[in-house]
Amino acid sequence: VRNAPPPVNARTTLDTCQALATRCSQCAHAAHATQTVWGEGPIGAPLMLVGEQPGDREDLEGRPFVGPAGQLLRAALDELHWPAEQLYLTNAVKHFKYEWRGKRRLHKTPGQREAMACQQWLEAEVRAVQPKAIVALGATAARSLLGPDLAVSDHEGLWLHRADGLPVLVVRHPAAILRTDPAMQAALRQRWVEHLRLASKVLQ
Ligand code: URA
Repeated sequence: VRNAPPPVNARTTLDTCQALATRCSQCAHAAHATQTVWGEGPIGAPLMLVGEQPGDREDLEGRPFVGPAGQLLRAALDELHWPAEQLYLTNAVKHFKYEWRGKRRLHKTPGQREAMACQQWLEAEVRAVQPKAIVALGATAARSLLGPDLAVSDHEGLWLHRADGLPVLVVRHPAAILRTDPAMQAALRQRWVEHLRLASKVLQ
C-alpha cells in the first residue's frame, strides 16, 4: 500500500468523502456542528498528522488546528522546520462534539462509537494521501489508526505499525500539554517536541 502511487482521482475522492461526511448520520454530531472540518494538505504528503476532533475555533472556521491546541502544534511544526507542503493535517473525528455551559460550547471527548463512525473518513484520507508515515496525536487518533484496545500511555514516543505496514508515531495531544500544571508545561512541551522530531526522517 505504502509505495503505490496515489489514486489518480485522489482529490476528487477526498472532495466526495468530505461532502458525504457533511451529511453523515452515523453519530449525532454532524447535525450539531457548524460544519465538517476536513483534513488539509497535499495528496502525496509524506507525513500525515492526526488529531482528535475539531474544537470550537476549528468548527467555526472549518479548518483543523486553528484553536489554542492547534496553535501549539503549529508552533512546534515551525520549530521543527517541517515544511507545510509535506504535511497533511487532519482529525480522527470530523465534527465538533460539545455541550453548552452557559453561552460557551465545551469540548467533549468523542467516544469509541463516534470515532468508529468517523473511521471510514480517516481511512479514505489515508488511502488518498498515501503518506509514508502518520503521527497520532493522542489516544483518539492512536486508537482510530491502530485499534481500540491500544494503551496509548505505554507507547508514547514510539513507532508502531498498522496491519497495512504504515508506521504510526504515537505522541501526546497538544491539548494535554495545555491542561498540564503550568509549572510542568515547558518540560512536557519539550519532551513532546522531541517525540515529534522522531518523524523528521520521513520528510525530504
Ligand atoms: N484542533 C484540531 O483540529 N484537532 C484537535 O485534535 C485539536 C484541536
